[in-house]
Amino acid sequence: MSVGIGIAGAGTVGGALLRRLVTDRAVVTARTGLDLEVRLVAVRDADKARPHQIPSRLITTDVMDLVTDDSIDLVVEVMGGLEPAGTLVLAALQAGKPVVTANKELIAARAPQLFAAAAASGVPLLFEAAVGGGIPIIRPLTETLAGEQVSRVMGIVNGTTNFILSAMTEQGWSYGDALAEAQRLGYAEPDPSADVSGADAAAKAAILAGLAFGVWVDPARVYREGIDRLGVADLAAAKRLGYVLKLLAVAERTPSGVLARVHPAMIPADHPLAAIRGATNAIFISGHAVGDLLFAGPGAGGDPTATAVLGDVIDAARELLSGSSVAPRIAFGLGEIASFDEVPTRWCLRLEVQDSPGVLARIAAVFGDAGVSLRSVWQDGRGDRATLIVVTHLAPEGSQRRALAGLEALDVVAEVAAAIRVEGDDS
Ligand code: NAP
Ligand code: HSE
Repeated sequence: MSVGIGIAGAGTVGGALLRRLVTDRAVVTARTGLDLEVRLVAVRDADKARPHQIPSRLITTDVMDLVTDDSIDLVVEVMGGLEPAGTLVLAALQAGKPVVTANKELIAARAPQLFAAAAASGVPLLFEAAVGGGIPIIRPLTETLAGEQVSRVMGIVNGTTNFILSAMTEQGWSYGDALAEAQRLGYAEPDPSADVSGADAAAKAAILAGLAFGVWVDPARVYREGIDRLGVADLAAAKRLGYVLKLLAVAERTPSGVLARVHPAMIPADHPLAAIRGATNAIFISGHAVGDLLFAGPGAGGDPTATAVLGDVIDAARELLSGSSVAPRIAFGLGEIASFDEVPTRWCLRLEVQDSPGVLARIAAVFGDAGVSLRSVWQDGRGDRATLIVVTHLAPEGSQRRALAGLEALDVVAEVAAAIRVEGDDS
């Protein structure tokens, strides 16, 4: 018996999935015993030329057809955005149709409502592709690590920004050229500001926090800084200190609750995450019994992401045909969200200062008054001006920010040119 698949979206991911479902149909059947038949594809523009041409009889421009058409057993949402994707996914679940999605923005923002609808209908809502592209990370977190007490999840979860930072550091590309190439290669979101602002990574951090700690974190409560304010001077400062600049996502359990944050970070050049280049993603999971696990692989791009979507489609189809629950059931609870201010962080600051007697003492006093101790200070003097690169010891984030505010108010500091956290350096 064949399973009728309806797909919303035939872009980078949907196009790659369509190719796989058509070209590999016999292979999938031979391996799984399932016959997956694409019966409807919803797109915005029915006349658009596509690398994989879709027979016109399969095309609709009304996504709700995937819900109302009785020949569709299973809905795949790879169009992105909150709407109309959200209405489609909710309606499909309420109609008793399993849903597979790659849409982290939607899952992160509406998890409680969508998983409640899936539970009420007794159908799966699967989203392996939503975090880490082709890397299996959702199943390990929800199944293999179900009995583990996870304390921290940290990683590189946005391929576009990692591609940009790698190209700027290693090939000397400009920010604009690197972003354009990431878009051409199909890594970037339909609106790439979601990548460079850290919003895409924040949605993924919220999902990882929810899965690791069982607490739904509203993505609006994820602390977020993007890479859009980084420049070559920051990359050069990182290199001089033996660090590499990455956009990191961190989800952690603190004494006062769960915290998720996304921001650029300097990490030691010999740290495993420093070797993660291009659109590759990597995610560290620290557990009480298992220790540290590292998951790495292609985090963006049509083909790797389609592999993750196809795996979910196969699981959902197996469940449809067997009538018994195969896929993981996920529930996000409510819990305390911690304040970032209490979490210990280490900072690297780049200051443009007056180069005259007593200046360093006044700067050191600002750190001291805020309760932040200094690990290293490097100075490059140029007549009456100098650049200071200061690395602090660990101190509560709130204390680091008090020091930053004090420096910004200090007359001898012309500019705080950069304030970037340092992670993974326990030396
Ligand atoms: P994309 O290339 O921009 O494709 C979006 C597709 O959705 C297009 O086919 C578009 O139709 C269709 N679409 C958009 N709005 C529509 C509407 N209102 N009605 C019907 N169809 C509509 O995007 P993508 O890169 O494939 O990303 C899709 C999803 O996968 C997003 O949630 C994204 O976050 C996620 N994802 C992407 C990647 C990646 O590497 N690209 C990786 C993991 C997850 P037209 O073709 O007619 O314009
Ligand atoms: N735009 C996303 C990225 C796609 O660059 O990582 C994968 O989710």
